[in-house]
Amino acid sequence: MNKMKLGVNIDHVAVLREARRVNDPDIMHALYVATNNGADQITIHLREDRRHIQDVDARDIITHSSIPVNLECAIDKEILSIVCELQPHRATLVPEKRQEVTTEGGLDVFGSAEQIRSAVAQLHAASIPVSLFVDPSIEAMKKSKELGAEMVELHTGTFANLFAMLNSSLAYTNHSVKEFELPRSELTQKLEQSLQAIKDAAAHAHSIGLEVAAGHGLNYHNVSYMMEIDEIIELNIGQSIVARSVFSGLAEAVQEMKKLTTR
Ligand code: PXP
Repeated sequence: MNKMKLGVNIDHVAVLREARRVNDPDIMHALYVATNNGADQITIHLREDRRHIQDVDARDIITHSSIPVNLECAIDKEILSIVCELQPHRATLVPEKRQEVTTEGGLDVFGSAEQIRSAVAQLHAASIPVSLFVDPSIEAMKKSKELGAEMVELHTGTFANLFAMLNSSLAYTNHSVKEFELPRSELTQKLEQSLQAIKDAAAHAHSIGLEVAAGHGLNYHNVSYMMEIDEIIELNIGQSIVARSVFSGLAEAVQEMKKLTTR
């Protein structure tokens, strides 16, 4: 049996739709195609600024999905009460800044501990299991457990950025990232360190009874590194799948990622 769940994040289908504010591409069509081509879970993020997924999308997806829906949300009073009402299979708490292009780092589990603790309690009171999107460090794993989460999703953005910098023919590289100036030997060392941090965090989280997911910046070129980490049981992947679907169609893009994430 495959021990890795593929969570397909379809936010970017809604990004394209919102560019014209017409119902095209249809997010429910994306749900249907992802489900029928290997997705084990659908992941969506109801952002405070509603830049892609709208309330009606979240409701329709949760109501009609035949596979679990992982709803990402910020620690915000209005959003949390919507999430409690929508009853997704799981909620993943993420940090959110209005100006960011995408979620840039994990939750501040130390600085925002009390807000996180009370959000977790509110979701649990509504019978919704909670995952915390956190940076891969042993301390963050311990704190996530103490805050009451049953799962952590390890932020793989640092790893993915470094991987892209070292393999720039394979992936568009964000040239504003300061590490881009570093010599390759240093980048390689940093990449190894970032991977080791993910491995250590995953092992520790597992040892204290947390389920472990990972996500952010994972793509067809770097996902194999995550497949080597036994404790990781779920990957949430969005941008690379939707980007590939522009050229090959969503069905093939999901199938291809499913092949790479089967063990
Ligand atoms: N996991 C979480 C918690 C996220 O916020 C995101 C981005 O929305 C993803 C996974 C997917 O990241 P990407 O779109 O880079 O694959």
